[in-house]
Amino acid sequence: MNIDKVVSEAEAAISQARDEAGLDEVRVRYLGKKGELTALLKSLGNLAAEARPAAGAAINSAKQQVKSLLALRKASLGAEQLATIVDQEAVDVTLPGRRPALGGLHPITQALARAEEIFVGAGYEIVAGLEVEDDYHNFEALNIPEHHPARAMHDTFYFRDGMLLRTHTSPAQVHVMENQQPPIRVICPGRVYRRDNDLTHTPMFHQIEGLVIDRGISFADLKGTVTEFVQRFFEKDLELRFRPSYFPFTEPSAEVDVQCVHCLGSGCRVCSHNGWLEIMGCGLVHPNALEMSGIDSEEFSGFAFGMGGDRLAMLLYEVDDLRLFFENDLRFLRQFN
Ligand code: DAH
Repeated sequence: MNIDKVVSEAEAAISQARDEAGLDEVRVRYLGKKGELTALLKSLGNLAAEARPAAGAAINSAKQQVKSLLALRKASLGAEQLATIVDQEAVDVTLPGRRPALGGLHPITQALARAEEIFVGAGYEIVAGLEVEDDYHNFEALNIPEHHPARAMHDTFYFRDGMLLRTHTSPAQVHVMENQQPPIRVICPGRVYRRDNDLTHTPMFHQIEGLVIDRGISFADLKGTVTEFVQRFFEKDLELRFRPSYFPFTEPSAEVDVQCVHCLGSGCRVCSHNGWLEIMGCGLVHPNALEMSGIDSEEFSGFAFGMGGDRLAMLLYEVDDLRLFFENDLRFLRQFN
């Protein structure tokens, strides 16, 4: 029996093992059930009885030696592996960080906020209004009785219980007049709904309603207010055109065109080559509308306007397709952050 040879072979094999699996193979080869040292122990029976104790002790100490060599190598393999992991997975803390992407306000929200800021600066209050309205506030109280032809233009979404989605922000005027006596100076920006869907119409769009009521309010006040607003909103000296028009709740009524912000009137795609863009309807509040909501039309007069919020945003940001605002394509929206 050459125990020393077996031990030194085992020692060499242990130091050559590259990982735990390799080390385990070595353990099995020497200490396993069919391992070399185990076989030596089993062969003790072939020795003479007096030789057995010494030989047995030698084999056992060889086993101990191999065991502790295995344990040592295992510990150093662990340390080596850890060192490699630490090396490979090291983080370079000096690299610049990656910031989380910040969201931004929708361009229409930004345009509405810009308009609000101008009016608030001029002493107006902002009112929210209701998106779900009744027939009375959306039509009746605005001097649009049942069967009035103006209703046909509104393509209303109705609920089963007779309520409806407001087709314009004008019902907000009614709520204000019902709850407040002049002087009144409010704007109501918000969503409105009509059963319309094509290149230039979406079923939901935005308006900004304005209402001013006091003693002695005239069309000149309306004209001055609208002109000043447009100059400030677009930060350009744009010409305005007041065209006579008709709304049941104002008398006289007008529609306002602004010189095309894109071509400044010379004609381009944005203004369909006529140099003007319509941005609102307006007028002096009809005495019937004042009286129905509890305001004395002998004592007070007022003006009102309703602007297209999406229109304003399109012109402000020179966006030529309304639908872009509602598709929520991040490539489009990110440009407004
Ligand atoms: N409500 C009208 C519409 O949606 C717009 C409008 C016109 C509002 C004249 C007004 C106004 O306040 O005075 O077509």
